[in-house]
Amino acid sequence: MNILVTGGAGFIGSHTVVELVEAGFSPVIVDNLSNSNVSVLKGLKNILGQDVPFYQEDCNDFEVMNKIVQKHQIQGIIHFAAYKAVGESVAEPLKYYQNNIGSLLNILEVMKGNGVRNLVFSSSCTVYGQADQIPVTEETPRKKAESPYGNTKAIAEDILEDCIKSGMEMGIISLRYFNPIGAHSSAQIGELPLGVPSNLVPFITQTAAGIREKLVVFGADYNTPDGSNIRDFIHVVDLAKAHVAALKLLDKKTEGSYYDIFNLGTGRGNTVLEVIETFEKVNQLKLNYEIGPRRAGDVEKIYGNVEKAAKLLNWKAEKSLEESLEDAWRWQKRISNL
Ligand code: NAD
Ligand code: WQD
Repeated sequence: MNILVTGGAGFIGSHTVVELVEAGFSPVIVDNLSNSNVSVLKGLKNILGQDVPFYQEDCNDFEVMNKIVQKHQIQGIIHFAAYKAVGESVAEPLKYYQNNIGSLLNILEVMKGNGVRNLVFSSSCTVYGQADQIPVTEETPRKKAESPYGNTKAIAEDILEDCIKSGMEMGIISLRYFNPIGAHSSAQIGELPLGVPSNLVPFITQTAAGIREKLVVFGADYNTPDGSNIRDFIHVVDLAKAHVAALKLLDKKTEGSYYDIFNLGTGRGNTVLEVIETFEKVNQLKLNYEIGPRRAGDVEKIYGNVEKAAKLLNWKAEKSLEESLEDAWRWQKRISNL
């Protein structure tokens, strides 16, 4: 089955391409490389022993996307392509609404025009904001987004739901990712942040590699066991496998309109300080870090209830925090030539 993977050169997309091939699907990547590097394709080839069809194109371009879908007789789409920097989205909201919403609308039009039924969409736990109760289930009410980025995910979910309510003949799944970390165990692909990372784990690995002088822990005065924030850190390969499970579920919904939402996390929370300690322990090194002030907009604690994905997708995260942090460090060492 030929699957179009938009944003397939990115962090989660590239790992998903590997899992798709290993599960017998034929992925086709469209990525404009706005937040990724063409070297990812080499990493993919080293893992898979084969080239994956790749188009350096913008998925806002209707004509181009239409041609690619027709040429490859695409049967399903996984739509990763989006901008994802929360801070930048506050400074440049139009850039985010244009790309994240515009590309989704374009993809939906292309699907409609070509009778492509199945879509998997990358949503985010950011739609929950600071929930009143954790772990959050898919029924937990969404909170008003803290950032334009977060809002693009909430709006996108609403667009998808409205399409299905209108009777569009499609099967659509939104996957709400928690905090993806780690890298492929081969160290051939991983996270490639442009500039100074804002996410925790790339900042940790870059600090350990000597690229950053020290990590600042954004607050240790929260109402958590050690005072630092709690997150649900999930290995990116586990996350990638869930996309295969989602496509398999959609494949069974051969008629009518279907929409569902799934949390993709581990079901457990770890504090930022636990992540640092675990990183030090499994990789046998000391990290230069200090406690600093809180970061504006951070939620205190969140992790996901993942029973729905276990039940309906027959999927659960299998890799430990230890393994995620070992893989993240192996990847950083490789790209830093350490
Ligand atoms: P990423 O930036 O590594 O990957 C996104 C890819 O999409 C990049 O390679 C980029 O070049 C490409 N892209 C962006 N706009 C494009 C366009 N208009 N046309 C073609 N390609 C385009 O990000 P990621 O971490 O792999 O995230 C993938 C998806 O998951 C995004 O939608 C993101 O919002 C969502 N998500 C990510 C996280 C996270 O923490 N990484 C958490 C929740 C949700
Ligand atoms: C994790 C924890 C920080 C860096 C973001 C997006 C969210 C989603 C996932 C896409 C927090 C702390 C971080 C540092 C630190 N993405 N931290 N020092 O904020 O949970 O979520 O990515 O949808 O929308 O907001 O992830 O990796 O930035 O932070 O102490 O230098 O690490 O305060 O508690 P976050 P993160």
